[in-house]
Amino acid sequence: MNDEELRNMISKTLTCRIDKRENCGDKMDQFLKRCFYHSGQYNSEEHFSELDIKMKEKEAGRLSNRLFYLSIPPNIFVDVVRCASVKASSKNGWTRVIVEKPFGRDSESSGELTRCLKQYLTEEQIFRCFCCIDFLCKQFMELGRSLIFFLLLFRIDHYLGKELVENLSVLRFSNLVFEPLWSRNYIRNVQLIFSEDFGTEGRGGYFDNYGIIRDIMQNHLLQILALFAMETPVSLDAEDTRNEKVKVLRSMRPLELEDVIVGQYKGHSKGGKSYPGYTDDPTVPKGSLTPTFAAAALFINNARWDGVPFLMKAGKALHTKRAEIRVQFRHVPGNLYKRNFGTDLDKATNELVLRVQPDEAIYLKINNKVPGLGMRLDRSDLNLLYSARYPKEIPDAYERLLIDAIEGERRLFIRSDELDAAWSLFTPLLKELEEKKIAPELYPYGSRGPVGAHYLAAKYNVRWGDLSSEDS
Ligand code: BG6
Repeated sequence: MNDEELRNMISKTLTCRIDKRENCGDKMDQFLKRCFYHSGQYNSEEHFSELDIKMKEKEAGRLSNRLFYLSIPPNIFVDVVRCASVKASSKNGWTRVIVEKPFGRDSESSGELTRCLKQYLTEEQIFRCFCCIDFLCKQFMELGRSLIFFLLLFRIDHYLGKELVENLSVLRFSNLVFEPLWSRNYIRNVQLIFSEDFGTEGRGGYFDNYGIIRDIMQNHLLQILALFAMETPVSLDAEDTRNEKVKVLRSMRPLELEDVIVGQYKGHSKGGKSYPGYTDDPTVPKGSLTPTFAAAALFINNARWDGVPFLMKAGKALHTKRAEIRVQFRHVPGNLYKRNFGTDLDKATNELVLRVQPDEAIYLKINNKVPGLGMRLDRSDLNLLYSARYPKEIPDAYERLLIDAIEGERRLFIRSDELDAAWSLFTPLLKELEEKKIAPELYPYGSRGPVGAHYLAAKYNVRWGDLSSEDS
C-alpha cells in the first residue's frame, strides 16, 4: 500500500464523534492527512530504525508518545516488541504496546510468551530500573529517561470494551434492586451465550489451531463471567477491579470433560442454497476435530456462588448472531399464582437478559396480569432497548479500548495473573480433548447447534433461555 491507499481504506470506516457544530469533514481530513503507511519485516531492527526515522520526521521534535498495536500471530509478538523497544520507542514520551489474543494456546505457552515479553514490556505504570541501587537509578533517570523505560503492555480483549459489558458493573453496583439478588440465594443459573451465523470463511488457518474454546470461551465469555460474579471492588481503580476478577477465576474449579460438549458444523442446503461444512473450508485440514461449537458448565466455589451453574455456549455457523448474558432467578416460594402456570414453574421464573449484541438491550421477564376481567397472567418484558432510549450510535469496542490505552487506563485490559488463572481453568480440558481425540458432534450450518448442549444443561436442571419459545 501507499499512503493514499491506506487513507482510502481508513476513510471507509472512520467515524467522527465531535460536537455537531464542528465540521466533521474537516476533522476527518486533518486526521487522514496524518496517516502514513510504512512497510517492513517484523523481525528487522533495521526496518524499525527506518520507521523510527520516519516517525521522528513527523514528530518534529515535539513531545511524542508512541502506541504500537499488534494484531499479528503470537509467534512474532516477541520479535516485533524487541525491535520496537530497541529501535522505535519514544525518546521523550511513553511507548505502549497493545497485543491481541491469542495469548498462547495453554498455560505453558501463555506463560512462556509472558516471560519473553517481559524482557521488553512491563505491566505496571512504573519506571523500571536495570540497576538495583537506588541512587544510581535516579542518576540514570536524570541522564536520559528512555534508557530505563520499559514499554507498557496492554492485553486487549475487545469484549471488555462492549457497551453492555462495561455497563454490567454500573447495573450491579449503582442500583439497589440488583445487587441484593446477585447470589445463590436468588439466582438459579447464569448463561453466557455467543453465536455467529457464519463459519470460519477463510480464517480456518488460524481457527483450526485454536478452536472455539480458545477463541471465545477462555477469553471473551470468561471475562464477562468474572465481571458478572466479582465482589464489589474497593474502588474503580484498574487494579481493584482486576484483583476482584482474579479472585473469581481462582475460586473456580478447572473444567472436566463431563462438563463440556463440543460440536462442529457440517455442510447444509437450505432454500436452494448450500452452505459449506467446516472441513470444506480449504484452509482447514481434512478430518479436523477442532470444535466450532462448545457448551460448558462452570462453577465458582465461593460463598456467593456455591452450586450455581454458569453455563457457557459459543458457536459458529449457527442460526443467529448474538451475544448475551441471561440470569435465571429461582422460583417464587409458595407462589400464590402457581395454578396460573400449570406444572411448568420454570416458565414463571424471572429472567434478566443483557443483550450485548446486536440491538443492545437490557430486559427483565416478569409475570403480569393480562388487563381485563378475570385473572389471566402472561409473561412480559420490562425492556430497555438502547436504540430507543439512546438513539446515538454506540461506539465500537475498539474505540473505547484504544482511547483507554492512550489515556493509560488499564481497567479493561487483561493482567498476567488473570490470564494465568483463565488458562488454568481450561488447559487440562483442552489437553484431554486433544489427547483423546474427542470427536465433535456434527450440526448443520445455520442450525441451533448440537443437541448435546441441551443434555448438558438438563444435567444441571437448566434450559437455555435463548432457545425458549419466548426468545427464539
Ligand atoms: C474474535 C474471534 O475475538 O471475536 C472471532 O477471534 C469472532 O472468531 C470475533 O468472530 C467476534 O467479535 P464480535 O465483536 O464481532 O462479536
